[in-house]
Amino acid sequence: MAKPKVIVTRKWPGEVEEALRLEFDVTLNASDKPMTTAELKKALGEADALCPTVSDSVNADVLGAEPLRAKILGSYGVGFNHIDLDAAKARGLVVTNTPEVLTDCTADLAMTLMLMVARRTGEGERHVRDRQWTGWRPTHMMGAKVTGKTLGLIGMGRIARAMAHKAHHGFGMRIIYTDPFPPPPDVVKSLSAESRGSVEEVLREADFVSLHTPGGKETRHLINAARLGMMKKGAFLINTARGDVVDQQALIAALKEERIAGAGLDVYEGEPALPDELLKLENVVLLPHLGSASLETRVAMGMRVVENLRAFFAGQKPRDRVA
Ligand code: DGY
Repeated sequence: MAKPKVIVTRKWPGEVEEALRLEFDVTLNASDKPMTTAELKKALGEADALCPTVSDSVNADVLGAEPLRAKILGSYGVGFNHIDLDAAKARGLVVTNTPEVLTDCTADLAMTLMLMVARRTGEGERHVRDRQWTGWRPTHMMGAKVTGKTLGLIGMGRIARAMAHKAHHGFGMRIIYTDPFPPPPDVVKSLSAESRGSVEEVLREADFVSLHTPGGKETRHLINAARLGMMKKGAFLINTARGDVVDQQALIAALKEERIAGAGLDVYEGEPALPDELLKLENVVLLPHLGSASLETRVAMGMRVVENLRAFFAGQKPRDRVA
């Protein structure tokens, strides 16, 4: 029997590309150049499976492709707000993602951002590399202490819980959170976490606010000017979720006017384009969407796609079906 034809939109770790080659008739993207809308549409007409990533916009236009051969979108990443799920369902496409395997790495990166922005390590690095450092002195580059402070989590899913674990058990932080679908009582207990009834309550109380909601219409600009105004003047905002959860212009204004102490960002509205104003600010740490970017995790994510495709083409329900 002919192997299913699979098209992968970006370059994946070598080990995963090898696994794909063994099981499927796969077209890889060695150049790693993002595919255009026309190329994505063409791929949907030529392959049994298309494997996009979080940086491909698989919108209603793309999913309107004619002819359509693909039956599954095996997405590489946990978030799926880059795929129009209604349009995918309407075309009879199954959609899968890659949860769990990236939880710890993304939580590690949220911790990294929290520590970096609080202790001014981005600034410190630039200072040393620019040969500006004149030596130790008692008032040089004082930041904010992290240990023992209050971490407020907006959304308490897998990544938030992993961050809470590291922050509470490693840094003695007090954990508060809000989530319409709260975690089971044993998880809450193990973190000594305290639930709050609204985003606003968390914002008013936390020293560090970390965002862990999905992206998409429901959460767009959840953190807007009014809500930024509720944060403590000395508080920091951490975003490893999705850029459009934060009104970026409102955040820039809050950072410029020092209405909050700082922000640590891994994701942006309209990424990878970044406004000059953001790049000029010292009280923000900027990373290039690295949440899951460890070799181990990126391989595990790819293997999870392979597993989902294998199940689907064997006539079984893929483990990570989201539509
Ligand atoms: C995801 O998986 O959704 C991240 O944003 C990339 O790892």
